[in-house]
Amino acid sequence: MTTDEWRLIGTVEDIPRSGARRIRIGEVDVGVFRTANDDVFALEDVCPHLGGPLSEGIVHGNEVTCPLHNMVIDLATGLSVEPTPKCVRSCLVRLEGEKVYLSKPDLRDLISQPIR
Ligand code: FES
Repeated sequence: MTTDEWRLIGTVEDIPRSGARRIRIGEVDVGVFRTANDDVFALEDVCPHLGGPLSEGIVHGNEVTCPLHNMVIDLATGLSVEPTPKCVRSCLVRLEGEKVYLSKPDLRDLISQPIR
């Protein structure tokens, strides 16, 4: 991807470790999650169950638990961890030192992976 295809959104330190930060891109809220290992993932901030704010959930390992009804979402894939998974749209994330970039177009039904 060229530099035109990435959007700088801040630094890793802007995101609480084992937590998340919500940002607005156009009309869409995006949750940017930082794991205990400082991997960063970005998902649309809408739970695929009933729309809960995933950025207010609990980050554990590479997963987040929705604060409303405890659906667990894999941050790397955007898929819920259940027999019939539901999907959250995601952004690719690229880290350059401390800088965090999200891919454009912003959200897609793809696997997102941290790139170092
Ligand atoms: S809205 Fe997320 S589990 Fe129900």
